[in-house]
Amino acid sequence: MAENWTPDSWRSKPIVQVPAYPDKEALADVESRLATYPPLVFAGEARKLKSHLADVAEGRGFLLQGGDCAESFAEHHADHIRDFFRAFLQMAVALTYGSQQPVVKVGRIAGQFAKPRSSDIEKKGDVELPSYRGDIVNGIEFNADSRIPDPHRQLMAYRQSAATLNLLRAFAQGGFANLDHVHQWMLDFVKDSPQSHRYQLMADRITDSLSFMRACGIDPESAPQLRSTDFFTSHEALLLGYEQALTRIDSTTGEWYATSGHMLWIGDRTRQADHAHLEFFRGVQNPIGLKCGPSQTPDGLLELIDILNPNNEAGRLTLITRFGHENVEKHLPKMIQAIEREGRKVVWSCDPMHGNTITANGYKTRPFERIMGEVESFFAVHRAEGTHAGGVHVEMTGRNVTECMGGAKEISAENLGDRYHTHCDPRLNADQALELAFTIAENLRKETDGKK
Ligand code: TRP
Ligand code: MN
Repeated sequence: MAENWTPDSWRSKPIVQVPAYPDKEALADVESRLATYPPLVFAGEARKLKSHLADVAEGRGFLLQGGDCAESFAEHHADHIRDFFRAFLQMAVALTYGSQQPVVKVGRIAGQFAKPRSSDIEKKGDVELPSYRGDIVNGIEFNADSRIPDPHRQLMAYRQSAATLNLLRAFAQGGFANLDHVHQWMLDFVKDSPQSHRYQLMADRITDSLSFMRACGIDPESAPQLRSTDFFTSHEALLLGYEQALTRIDSTTGEWYATSGHMLWIGDRTRQADHAHLEFFRGVQNPIGLKCGPSQTPDGLLELIDILNPNNEAGRLTLITRFGHENVEKHLPKMIQAIEREGRKVVWSCDPMHGNTITANGYKTRPFERIMGEVESFFAVHRAEGTHAGGVHVEMTGRNVTECMGGAKEISAENLGDRYHTHCDPRLNADQALELAFTIAENLRKETDGKK
């Protein structure tokens, strides 16, 4: 167990990105109520995820992590969850085939509500209001009332997370994830894509593999592994009062676990070594992610790893790098070399979204070719360093939105207004997400072939 740590020891440290709740009493009341509610996930599940990630850290697996930038109360529909999961599973099939390795499936979902912001204030014309910090904190509507942080929103977020997770568990285990179905959806995507020729070969090979296995007597009816999947949840654990209330002792091991989600990550803006977020994270035993942007130095990174993973446990720590498409070569090799030199066990994952945000036609957007570019550079650097490119972290939705420019359907700056729905950052739509998965699958193929 971490020394001198309690679930509330973060409270005596400096902290950034916290909402200014006007009603402290209401906040304390909500937090103490949450502390009596059932956990959303079990410690045993978090341990299982950690052991899958340990395999990834050792080069035997690939991490797929994705979902909304920010979940919203207004868009809590079964259809959205289903469509997300449908796109996500198709990506997983392509990646499993490409890597010839198990794919660890982790959603940015069922808890991804709190957002760090670059400014405390949002200004429109002459009006200045507190920034929107995610539905768990305040409302996105630009008026003074809605922007007041309201602690009761935490109870809503908890209940929405529970309902979302309930549906996802049913989808993952109850037949929706049947490999034959997922593959059929993928064939539909390939047929309709303007880039069909690029994906057809891999899709055909998967069809052949499934037919071959069926002929041998292995199909979803006979083999439970082919009709269900393990799916895990994750979010940025930014709102520490909420996280603390859901942090519980695991009766099996006597260790502390955050039970708001299986995996939690630390944002690039809240990773100061002596601050509250590092303090909270060091004491919970969940697998954790650490976002690494261009301002992260190799020495700074090693210092954080000493705090977060002092026993060098494989699977504990995933480094999620987000440099921008032109900056990967500049930053990533130095980081990898420092980690290799010191023998630290980590999963390397690429977030190709957050370093590639621009404004076009008045919209915050991300050009698809830059997203692809960051992923390609990430793989190229790992090939050159001889290390395992272990995962991707994407913002995506299963819906046909127009938030990121480009892709096979060539969304232009002028198209962005057609279906721009995000509550925060621009997401890949279902087609773009799958295109990205196919590209990654090709890169994984190169890595596997290189080892033969
Ligand atoms: N159970 C295996 C896995 O999760 C195979 C599988 C079943 C699968 N359904 C899936 C893989 C859907 C990807 C997507 O890897
Ligand atoms: Mn985001």
